[in-house]
Amino acid sequence: METAACLSKAAPLGPNEQEIARRFKRHTETALTLASQPARPCQPPLPPSYQLLDDVELDVRLTRARALLGRRVVVLGHHYQRDEIIKFADFRGDSFQLARQAASRRDAEFIVFCGVHFMAESADLLSGPEQQVILPNLEAGCSMADMAQLEAVDECWQAVSSLGGSSILPVTYINSSADVKAFCGAHGGAVCTSANASAVLSWALDHGERVLFLPDEHLGRNTARRLGLDPAAVVLWDPAEPQGGIDAGEPRRARLILWKGYCSVHMRFTTAQIAKARECQPGVSVVVHPECRSEVVLAADAVGSTEFIAKTIREAPAGSQWAVGTEVQFVNRLAKEHPDKQVSCLDPVVCPCSSMYRIHPSYLLWVLERLLADEVVNRIVVPTAVAKWARIALDRMLAIT
Ligand code: 13P
Ligand code: SF4
Repeated sequence: METAACLSKAAPLGPNEQEIARRFKRHTETALTLASQPARPCQPPLPPSYQLLDDVELDVRLTRARALLGRRVVVLGHHYQRDEIIKFADFRGDSFQLARQAASRRDAEFIVFCGVHFMAESADLLSGPEQQVILPNLEAGCSMADMAQLEAVDECWQAVSSLGGSSILPVTYINSSADVKAFCGAHGGAVCTSANASAVLSWALDHGERVLFLPDEHLGRNTARRLGLDPAAVVLWDPAEPQGGIDAGEPRRARLILWKGYCSVHMRFTTAQIAKARECQPGVSVVVHPECRSEVVLAADAVGSTEFIAKTIREAPAGSQWAVGTEVQFVNRLAKEHPDKQVSCLDPVVCPCSSMYRIHPSYLLWVLERLLADEVVNRIVVPTAVAKWARIALDRMLAIT
């Protein structure tokens, strides 16, 4: 059975786990994959008393709530969060660093994740069983992660698997739902982050005849090029098109099948902006995130994850100039924190990541004050059956990197 073959190749499983893998495969075959994963709940409106608070009152009450909750709560803030939120974060970092921070603070009863939904899920997967993860606004989802719904992934998988061949491994970017991570775990694959995509993709290409990479086409393409993979061996699967919009022979030739997903924030960056930055600021260096299109990455001086960008600017010499192709809240903070360097966003008509921006201080205050009243709101729980396989995919990543 192909699933079991893939699994045993990547990480040997005991008989019990093989049975679970078989059951999982049966689920995928009937398109009922991980039916235990409920639909994401909607965010109810904030209570009226939280809707009209001014900045000063928000700040005073947030300071008080943090102090009263003390070490019972750890607040995590992704780099893309606004300053008014970062101010109250115990840790800030990229998505994976924050998930690890969550795992390292076992004494905290509550992990309040100021980021987006998939990040809160990762924190739930990596934290202790008694810890509760809270996402202040349930509407804070990642539009890229939402582009790979499990049913559509399963359809693609069935189509690609039916072509034959000995093995195909799925790799999912951490920007994906827990059930897609679990799908990858159960089919012998792994998770990757923007910081370790090369290592994980290289592992998958070594172990599988083909690799399905999702949900970000651009991270996949940029990483494949970095690994020297022949572009002719890369095909694009468009979930909006019948049969992925590719002709029947294509996946047979492919070594890498990319899911047609993208980040709307990083898609805003263009080669024209890079040319303009170089014209207006001779000597400027350009650093971009690997979610940008290939031609943008090629035109830049450096490419790397959010944390890579932070480190690059931190370690750059005083007086250096930087045009940065990533989320603007983060770029503006880098500029403030490094006044001895000139740091600006590559996009002159900047817009923040609207999903991250949904974590307004009023929501943070609401969840913290509910905790003070002994009520947990907006808890994120990954169901046990999903969590098991999602953790396997995350653990494989950790073993590879
Ligand atoms: P990081 O993994 O670098 O935190 O990036 C997450 C993200 O959403 C980038 O757009
Ligand atoms: Fe998702 Fe893009 Fe926002 Fe990152 S910046 S959370 S990939 S929508």
